[in-house]
Amino acid sequence: MRFLVTGAGGLIGANVALTFDSRGHDVIALDHFDVGRRENLADFRGTIHSGDIRNFHFDSLGRFDGIFHQAAITDTTVMDEKLMMSVNVDAFVRILEYADRSGCPKVVYASSAATYGKGAPPNREDQPPQPANIYAVSKVEMEKAARVFSDVHPTVKTVGLRYFNVYGPLEFHKKSAASMIYQLYRQIAAGKSPRLFKWGDQYRDFIYVKDVVEANRKAFEFPGNGVFNVGTGRGTSFNQVIAVINKVLGSTRLTDYFDNPYGFYQDATCADTERGETILGWKAGHTPEEGIIDYIGWLRSRDAAPARV
Ligand SMILES: NC(=O)c1ccc[n+]([C@@H]2O[C@H](COP(=O)([O-])OP(=O)(O)OC[C@H]3O[C@@H](n4cnc5c(N)ncnc54)[C@H](O)[C@@H]3O)[C@@H](O)[C@H]2O)c1
Repeated sequence: MRFLVTGAGGLIGANVALTFDSRGHDVIALDHFDVGRRENLADFRGTIHSGDIRNFHFDSLGRFDGIFHQAAITDTTVMDEKLMMSVNVDAFVRILEYADRSGCPKVVYASSAATYGKGAPPNREDQPPQPANIYAVSKVEMEKAARVFSDVHPTVKTVGLRYFNVYGPLEFHKKSAASMIYQLYRQIAAGKSPRLFKWGDQYRDFIYVKDVVEANRKAFEFPGNGVFNVGTGRGTSFNQVIAVINKVLGSTRLTDYFDNPYGFYQDATCADTERGETILGWKAGHTPEEGIIDYIGWLRSRDAAPARV
């Protein structure tokens, strides 16, 4: 199969591109590498294009069996609404139009659990969106655009994946926006006390990036249109994350709790996974504990290897 992966220098895009490439598919990677890193694709054997999805000449790439669209402004603190909409929504519509023009039958795109915003967990796909920031609004708009597009152009099927809190290999470039699992691992591995807002019982539906890749594969194989949650269906508190990391690293340092300075802070995220399991046929293959242990193994071997990133 011939696939295009946008945002291929980023956490999810790089894992999707590398995995499909390693499975023998012809994968083309696209990113402008302002945020994601070329180094994330060091082991990639396909073609890499450096370009901005807002003006990239997609037609030069020919026809794909599937497009995995991960590129987006992922920094949820960006307040420039025009910029956010032009990258996350308008450029997505360009990609949908290109899919239609070139005869690509499937576009799998990254939506987000941010669409639920203040909606109480566990979140079901059919509950009304309550976006709490511009980033989340852009993801709601992407879903609307996809719905309208596939109604008008039924030969292009679209599947949106509402990722919950993704963690795993190749997220170094995200710095302070990297997952809490990565941040806490770094603090503990450096011999410091992990730092949390009081009292660490806030929880997230942490989903391992390897499971996210499989969700993309299932979404490609799914014959219809739709939007699906991508989470484990389990909330894991920050205290529980620290307990797992401490156990693996043999650390006994006490957690340093401090006051949360933010007025609005999402205390909990958790997916309802029924629709994904029954309709898409996808279920997370790692519990949060299994994913964290696997990831720590990767981080330790990466730290021990000669520097590449
Ligand atoms: N990581 C998560 O927890 C999470 C949760 C929900 C949704 N998502 C969504 O998943 C997708 C991938 O996220 P990620 O975590 O890999 O983020 P990331 O920031 O690591 O990757 C995004 C990539 O898109 C690229 N990009 C941004 N604007 C571009 C442009 N105009 N042209 C070309 N490339 C551009 C960046 O350089 C980066 O490599 C995004 O759409 C994001 O909104 C991620």
